Amino acid sequence: MNDSKPWWILVGAGRRLGRALAENLASDCHLLLTGSRPWAKTDPWIAELSSKTQIRTLCWNAENPALDSQMMAEMEALGAEGIRFQSAVLVAGTFPRQPFGSWTSPALSDLFRLNLTFPMLAAQAIAPHLETGGSLQLLLDSAIHRPLLQRLPYTASKAALASLVPGLARQLAPRRVAGHALGVVLPDEGSDPETLAQQNLLGFNGAVEDLARALRYVAQSPYLTGEILTLDGGWQWR
Ligand SMILES: NC(=O)c1ccc[n+]([C@@H]2O[C@H](COP(=O)([O-])OP(=O)(O)OC[C@H]3O[C@@H](n4cnc5c(N)ncnc54)[C@H](OP(=O)(O)O)[C@@H]3O)[C@@H](O)[C@H]2O)c1
Repeated sequence: MNDSKPWWILVGAGRRLGRALAENLASDCHLLLTGSRPWAKTDPWIAELSSKTQIRTLCWNAENPALDSQMMAEMEALGAEGIRFQSAVLVAGTFPRQPFGSWTSPALSDLFRLNLTFPMLAAQAIAPHLETGGSLQLLLDSAIHRPLLQRLPYTASKAALASLVPGLARQLAPRRVAGHALGVVLPDEGSDPETLAQQNLLGFNGAVEDLARALRYVAQSPYLTGEILTLDGGWQWR
């Protein structure tokens, strides 16, 4: 194993996009993965990743009221081991259909807790442990450009996160901050990938490799901060 590899942290790596990114990044990064549930080291995909690179895992559940102090303490402990991160990618989020008229206080609180409060607290815990010039990268959605009517609370949560990108860039410099306004990469269960693909200008959905390339681009671009990159096949312009 190459110990000159940089460390990255993926927050929300338990499944789908987070897991796929972990599999992609394991070729050139050591990885700290967080998920909402305790990790099984015997899980075949974690065992497979561990054969390629150093893997650490943490259980960070957005619903845990003591999470902010837990995250701080765990990051401090990693810092005490000498681990600094080149990049942190905040992936965790939820994508519920919540049409106007169905909104309730508990449902909106749950959504904002995971999509907004959690990434804000994670950013606060992680940022001191980024290398100088390291990058904090937030997973957004192209819906910030063109609201999803059936998912306005989701849209609002991602737009709020997007509005933090320039502010966090000012707050955290010389560490850097970027957002990724993503179109369809892994379609939601029950949706038709072909129909979704026809809704952008290019006629195909994105791939995990597209996002991984953008994450590496930000990590390797020392003059870039405070920006949101849109990767949506031109969906916002249709
Ligand atoms: N999929 C796409 O094509 C697409 C497109 C645009 C934007 N995005 C954005 O990309 C992100 C990931 O998308 P996805 O499709 O992979 O979403 P997903 O399947 O809903 O996965 C969400 C992630 O959030 C984590 N999570 C869920 N509940 C949590 C909790 N209570 N505490 C901590 N973490 C929790 C999950 O971790 P556990 O598995 O450990 O529970 C999982 O890794 C989201 O922010 C989404 O808005 C995705």
